[in-house]
Amino acid sequence: MLGLVTTPEGKAPMELRELPEPQLRRNEALIAVHAVSLNRGELRSVRNNGEGWVPGQDVAGVVLQQAADGNGPPMGARVVSLTDEFGWAQHVAVASHRMAALPDNVGFAQASTLPVAGLTALRTLRHGAPLLGKRVLITGAAGGVGTLAVQLAARSGARVTAVVGRAERAAGLKELGALEVVEGIARADGKFGLILESAGGSSLAQAIKLVERKGTVVVYGNSSGEPTTISFADFRGAPNSRVQSFSYFYSEAEDQFAPDLALLVSLIADGSLKPQIGVERSWRDFATVAEQLRDRRIGGKAVLMVD
Ligand SMILES: NC(=O)c1ccc[n+]([C@@H]2O[C@H](COP(=O)([O-])OP(=O)(O)OC[C@H]3O[C@@H](n4cnc5c(N)ncnc54)[C@H](OP(=O)(O)O)[C@@H]3O)[C@@H](O)[C@H]2O)c1
Repeated sequence: MLGLVTTPEGKAPMELRELPEPQLRRNEALIAVHAVSLNRGELRSVRNNGEGWVPGQDVAGVVLQQAADGNGPPMGARVVSLTDEFGWAQHVAVASHRMAALPDNVGFAQASTLPVAGLTALRTLRHGAPLLGKRVLITGAAGGVGTLAVQLAARSGARVTAVVGRAERAAGLKELGALEVVEGIARADGKFGLILESAGGSSLAQAIKLVERKGTVVVYGNSSGEPTTISFADFRGAPNSRVQSFSYFYSEAEDQFAPDLALLVSLIADGSLKPQIGVERSWRDFATVAEQLRDRRIGGKAVLMVD
């Protein structure tokens, strides 16, 4: 089978190579991968890993072999799944409790946007529950997590303020449910009960100043790579507010991956969640797509088709 492997010394950052078939544990199914999506964090992992590593956490495809313990979707089922790594390959081993079956009206490309970005959007928003009527501020709103979070928050009754880096990134966010879109967090007005913060640096410092009494700032990323200086005084006017760290892998128990993925899939199926796929290309075009994602030129998610 073919896989995309890191080649730090090569002409391109990744290359397609012939690889051995995955060895399955008893609780793992073998998936024929049709689509994968790229995450900003994976770009960092590609840069930081040595020769011959296969990344890939977001996988959509077809079950070639059900897990030997009899759990999970059967052979032939169309599925979406979250893997730790190794997903950018024609075949991958996936634990049966980390996948959900896809109905016919959910495509592989759409489904591949869900594991990392969808689970992050869903689970960060839970820190603000109940969302009905709550003001929610979402930084990086035009990105992979952001475009999903805007929709899920709006659908839950939140009044969403979306933050983008520049004017053209605002396109489509009101249609997804944002009440207002601001260019830069400094332009956000008033206080918020929940803030999803992923830019870091000065954006996080500003977010803390915008949180309301008993409100929550969920810190789930640092796209800018900048550190943040905060002080006790920044919480003046917002007693009992909190800054909540988040990691999608550890935010809920392992056995919640399948139900949460299934929930997200069902929302696509009923038309209430529309993954925004800014770029859909062959996995052979990894280098071009990775550059676009790094340079903030992709609205929503980048998807690679394993053709
Ligand atoms: N903790 C977790 O479990 C978890 C899970 C998923 C993602 N993350 C992290 O969360 C962040 C968002 O993920 P994503 O997949 O949505 O990424 P993405 O698709 O690249 O979106 C990131 C968004 O952040 C905005 N941004 C603001 N300042 C930026 C900067 N200095 N550099 C780059 N982007 C900047 C960009 O919007 P504009 O171009 O409009 O400014 C962009 O739309 C990433 O840092 C990622 O690593 C963490």
